[in-house]
Amino acid sequence: MSQHQAAAATGFRAVDLIRKKRDGTELSSAEIQWLVASYTRDEVPDYQISAWLMAVVLRGMTRAETAVLTDSMLHSGDVLDFSSIPAKKVDKHSTGGVGDKTSLILAPAAAAAGVAVPMISGRGLGHTGGTLDKLESIPGFNVNLSTADFRRVLETCGCAMIGQTPQIAPADRKLYALRDVTGTVESPYLICASIMSKKLAEGIDALVLDVKTGSGAFMKKEEDAVFLAELMVETGQRMGKQVVALITDMNQPLGRMVGNSLEVVECVDILKGAGPQDLRELCAELAGWMLFLGGAAASIEAGKQRYEQLIASGKAFEKFKQMIQLQGGDPRAIDDLTRLPKAQGSMEVRSSRAGFLSSFDCEQVGTACVVLGGGRERKEDSVDPAVGIVLHKKLGDTVSKDEPLAIVHYNDASRAQRTRRILLDSFGISDAPAAAAKPLVRRVLGMSGGTH
Ligand code: URA
Repeated sequence: MSQHQAAAATGFRAVDLIRKKRDGTELSSAEIQWLVASYTRDEVPDYQISAWLMAVVLRGMTRAETAVLTDSMLHSGDVLDFSSIPAKKVDKHSTGGVGDKTSLILAPAAAAAGVAVPMISGRGLGHTGGTLDKLESIPGFNVNLSTADFRRVLETCGCAMIGQTPQIAPADRKLYALRDVTGTVESPYLICASIMSKKLAEGIDALVLDVKTGSGAFMKKEEDAVFLAELMVETGQRMGKQVVALITDMNQPLGRMVGNSLEVVECVDILKGAGPQDLRELCAELAGWMLFLGGAAASIEAGKQRYEQLIASGKAFEKFKQMIQLQGGDPRAIDDLTRLPKAQGSMEVRSSRAGFLSSFDCEQVGTACVVLGGGRERKEDSVDPAVGIVLHKKLGDTVSKDEPLAIVHYNDASRAQRTRRILLDSFGISDAPAAAAKPLVRRVLGMSGGTH
């Protein structure tokens, strides 16, 4: 049906709904349902949806509009039913950050504890990295499984990680790609609908949300992150799911590596019991919740301990290998990391002065990686899996003049020079030691983590 035919049938026209949102008027359920369904069927063009999305960013949405948008996106495709799998189905989702690679660690770790993790993830969005892009840097790894194969991998190894298929939340798949390149990511209503539509389509019992706040997050201010967390917890609970949201710090990249294959390397470090402290701590915290909600531990603390055991015994690592194999990837790539894509050149970024690393413009670090080719500037862009940044310093560290702050791994020298300049501007170096860093986990919303 063309837009004209649909408009004739319903009386709706995209341009009227754009104007209505632009002028701050609440849209009806029928209007939102029509817009989402028509866009999913390619009957409303990208440019009209882009304008509507921008109006939402600027004008916001009511709770009722957000609920209808989420439901329309959820029902734009199939809602999976994994009730035949006896284990509890639990997922974790982050609102997006820089160097945020916890999914690749948590899905296999929770599966090794007997929790089922059917994970549907996204690609890089704006300055943030995406789980799918990271997984695809493992040679052969297929994130585009059919629903039947998704189920088969989940049943066989307890976790499976894919992207939205044309069957699962197809509206989000289209909207996500469009928002990425139209400056329309940063709306709590759109983020809530995007994340929750995907997650609710997965057939899960419980969800752990990692809501980022700080200079590298979409929600820079903690109160905005809390607002988004409340929206998502409310949406999940309305659908009868157990949902918890951790508000976590994103004022500096998580871990030390930013860029797709580099981040896989860092995940392997963590799965082998090493890796940077902040990433280890956050993984343990999120795993504690996943295991608790998945019935594999009686409390968050017990969940964290079980997670540590699964790392120490190598069972989480083995689970990751099994999932890679089942999804068509080459598991040898994580035993021998030289099999992962490697950039041709590397360049040090040196400090022009001595002092203390007192701030990061973390969003700029993410942008620096996009500029290298590690993310997308246009919807059609492909991602270079090999490029990225290795950071040598964390907030509070001392810095000497000329000391390397970071190493840029590149395949294009002019992009590397741009990246170097962006990175130099993103480090704040002060004479006096910085105030103590804020805790990694700021708040927990939605549930308490005692015994069942
Ligand atoms: N992650 C998502 O899945 N969607 C968003 O809109 C932002 C982060």
